[in-house]
Order: sequence, then C-alpha cells, then structure tokens
Amino acid sequence: MYLQEEQQKTYEENGFLLLDNLFSQDQIETITTKLSTNSWEGKPGNVLEEDGGTLRAIHEDPTETGLLDKISKHALIVEPAMQILGSQVYIHQLKINFKAAFNGDLWPWHQDYIYWQQEDGMPTPRAVNVMIFLEEVNEFNGPLYIIPGSHKQGVITSLQRTEEDSADPEAPEWISSFQSNLKYTTPEETVSELVKELGIEAPKGKPGSALFFHPNCVHGSTNNISPFSRKIAIITYNSVENIPITVGNPRPDFLVGRDYQAIKPLPNQALIV
Ligand code: SIN
Ligand code: MN
Repeated sequence: MYLQEEQQKTYEENGFLLLDNLFSQDQIETITTKLSTNSWEGKPGNVLEEDGGTLRAIHEDPTETGLLDKISKHALIVEPAMQILGSQVYIHQLKINFKAAFNGDLWPWHQDYIYWQQEDGMPTPRAVNVMIFLEEVNEFNGPLYIIPGSHKQGVITSLQRTEEDSADPEAPEWISSFQSNLKYTTPEETVSELVKELGIEAPKGKPGSALFFHPNCVHGSTNNISPFSRKIAIITYNSVENIPITVGNPRPDFLVGRDYQAIKPLPNQALIV
C-alpha cells in the first residue's frame, strides 16, 4: 500500500502521519492474544519499570522469528516506509511498550535519532518509526505527545544523563536508553520554545492504527494513571543506503538489527502472526 501525495506532504511537513485502522482489530488481537501467553518472559531485552515489577518494554532481535516478525514485513507498513525513505529498507529495531494501567511510567521529551547516531553509528536520520497501536490509545492512557514540524530542527543539543544519575548502577548500560530516566533528553527550555511556535499533538486511535514518525521529531509521553493499558509496537526501518558504521561498544542484537538485506514486503492480505 502506498501513500497518497497529500499524506506524503503531511509527513514531510509535520514529521508524522497517523493512518487510522490500518490493520483490522482482529488482526491485532492475534498479537495481543499471543502476548498474553507471556511468551516474552525471561528474554534479555525485557525492561521493567522503576518499581522493579511492572513490565515496561520488550525488544525482539529482528533477525529472529518473534511476535513482530510478520507484521514488520507487511506491505501495509513497509511500502509507505520505503516511500518515505526513498529506498528499500531493513529493520533497525523492534519493540513493544506496555504502558501498564495505573503503573506505566513516562517517556521524557526526546528525539530518537541521537540514540542511533551516538550508540549505533547510524550516519543520517534516514529512518522512520512506525508505532502500531495494539490497544486503543486515548487521552487517558498516556498517548504519545509530539511536536509537529520539530524534525526540521535536526539533532537538537540534548541533556545527557551520566552513569552517576543511574537508578541502578548494576543494570546494563543499554537499559539507560529505555528507562523513564532516559539517557538523552530534550531540555525543557527548548521544548517550551518549540511548543510556543509549533504546538503539541497527541495522535489517538483504535487498535490497528499506525503512526509513522520521523526520528528527529521531539516526542514523549506521560505516565498512565488510568485503568486502560496502552500497548504499542514500534518498528524502526532504516534505509539500506544508511547502513551504520562500526562503533566501539556495540549494543546487543536485540536492540540493533544487523541484517541489512532489503525487506521483501509480504502481501497486503498476509496474516500477521
Ligand atoms: C518512545 O519514545 O520510543 C516511546 C514512547 C512511548 O511509548 O510513549
Ligand atoms: Mn522515542
């Protein structure tokens, strides 16, 4: 499925595009049902909330068969991703953020590309995130806040968290890119200035909706005090013309896809699990 010209323009202008009900609720249910069997338990890419008990996120190695294996190769999202990036694509990262009812914690204001640049050696932000709503995202359960047009600022000087700020000095280094106390965040002053000029949006929708967003868009989300959990998957596609350079301290394979072969999209009618 390819985007219409108008949709492409919206993405270019705002740095994001919401496609309502891209997948059917039945299709999405096959993923959430599988998730509820706890098949993810004990995996090395799991991240807990600061309370030490609530699951915050899971990460899948894109070279292995996992829950997001099929959906991440589906033409409904791969083709728009190829169109946005102007090339064939491969998967850089696959994750599910749980944002649990009552206990799901926040994501501070940040940009994504700085992580892939600094930690993974990605040369340019020629990548795109696709956030697939696995449950309804509404005004109560911590939707993503995003500043439209902020991707045009490029990489903004970030605040960088140090080892000493870490809640758990025993935790592996990679965790600092996924906890509520994030490694690189956008300073409050910058957020205030950007929001004054550009505003904030909070795309919401039914399960199966998909939000495409640019890795330099400033975004974050609040904690979830509602009784509704907010499970979403995020698939990050990188252009095959933007392969990372070698870095000194490579992050684990469950965070950084290293199969640079172009994805052959599965047909629109393909099953997703
Ligand atoms: C992210 O910024 O990668 C996730 C934000 C969220 O789950 O709300
Ligand atoms: Mn992010």
